[in-house]
Amino acid sequence: MRKITIAIDGYSSTGKSTIAKQLAKALGYVYVDTGAMYRAVTLYAIRKGFVSDTSDNFTVLIEALPNINVKFVHNDELGFSEMFLNDENVEKEIRSLAVSGQVSKVAAVKEVRTKLVEMQKEMGKEKGIVMDGRDIGSVVFPDAEFKVFMTASPETRAHRRYKELLDRGDDVTYEEVLKNVRSRDYIDSNRKESPLLLAKDAIEFDNSDMGLVEQFERMHNYALRIIEKE
Ligand code: DC
Repeated sequence: MRKITIAIDGYSSTGKSTIAKQLAKALGYVYVDTGAMYRAVTLYAIRKGFVSDTSDNFTVLIEALPNINVKFVHNDELGFSEMFLNDENVEKEIRSLAVSGQVSKVAAVKEVRTKLVEMQKEMGKEKGIVMDGRDIGSVVFPDAEFKVFMTASPETRAHRRYKELLDRGDDVTYEEVLKNVRSRDYIDSNRKESPLLLAKDAIEFDNSDMGLVEQFERMHNYALRIIEKE
């Protein structure tokens, strides 16, 4: 069976990664969460004091880019890949609200995007990949055979994210999470560099009122139809 490239874009907390992971597993494809890469660079920038709620220094961040090594390492026991920043497993820390609060600014820096997009293109050279992010169908793989744009209402997404953070033991309020979701939507959609947009050949997929099983079945069927075509 021929291998294709699957690009899944959309707003934060639309459940892109859950579906992308399931799809990759069902098809025997590699899954890449590009948000994790932007989050790891952001974690580095926070630790070094390059970004914060009160001041940002993108010039020093750009200078430091050659020292920031992000990579995925497969955890055979868990059955998925984890994000490493300069050889440290940061999989848990990159999902914190502290990182979520700074990541959109870092992801808007052109030099950061250039570095990460280049790595992403390399990872997808052989096809057989499911990649999720914001610019996968528009910039990273404009020729992807299957492009999906996932959406859901900000409230639905904030509820999902809030529950996830509570389950992890984070001390957050629903209002804080909703504010973060709205603010990231705004920055991600309005930035100059590769803003989040619906590629004209992408399928828009609103999953506000859809369970995981139905979402997976629909996406899987779409993917199989495309794979079997030609
Ligand atoms: O998917 P996520 O919420 O983990 O993404 C974290 C941030 O990174 C989000 O604010 C948008 C940004 N991002 C991006 O600009 N381009 C990507 N391909 C993936 C994520």
